[in-house]
Amino acid sequence: MPNRLLAPAEWKAGNKILHDVFVGENHVSPSVAHKLTIEENLNSGTWIGSFDSNNTLVGLVLLTSFSEQAARVAQPGGAEIRLLAVLPKYRRSSNASDLVGYAEKWSCLQGRTTLTLSTQETMLAAQHLYRRLGYRELTDLGYFSMGKRFVVFQKVFKSSTS
Ligand SMILES: CC(C)(COP(=O)(O)OP(=O)(O)OC[C@H]1O[C@@H](n2cnc3c(N)ncnc32)[C@H](O)[C@@H]1OP(=O)(O)O)[C@@H](O)C(=O)NCCC(=O)NCCS
Repeated sequence: MPNRLLAPAEWKAGNKILHDVFVGENHVSPSVAHKLTIEENLNSGTWIGSFDSNNTLVGLVLLTSFSEQAARVAQPGGAEIRLLAVLPKYRRSSNASDLVGYAEKWSCLQGRTTLTLSTQETMLAAQHLYRRLGYRELTDLGYFSMGKRFVVFQKVFKSSTS
């Protein structure tokens, strides 16, 4: 099934994926789990879902733009992806790659010049994924938050001077 924007009827399933992946796999403390919901980030961008052949939601990502409140590392004229997650059973099948590809196309259509993201230093699978998809680490923009180190990656779509 192609990726598409999440419909309200799919938010519950999306929230379960966010909780199972980020809290269940110890990437995020249970104390901030209440912020990890579709509804909490609804005004912050666009939720994109990845679906299997039965139309079951298996992964998702939040795409925000520089002007939106959830953006942390987006640059002027650029977009940012956050909260990329794929259920364990569906990993290594290009679901995350396809989600990021969809976010890139969507960003380009909106005239965004860059796609930037931050990921926890310990999220090695994600770092492999982004490097493989042509993202470059911006070492100067790395930062610490809530006791964790975050690594920033970016892909440039076109020169801001062209
Ligand atoms: C990171 C994550 C989203 C990847 O999802 P996925 O659907 O398995 O990713 P893909 O199948 O598109 O992987 C594409 C490439 O990324 C790299 N990659 C993905 N998972 C990897 C792993 N566990 N170890 C090493 N490289 C990995 C590989 O190069 C892979 O290509 P290959 O399978 O042909 O070798 C998933 O593991 C996940 O949800 N992790 C927990 C949450 C997380 O880290 N989110 C990122 C937040 S920024």
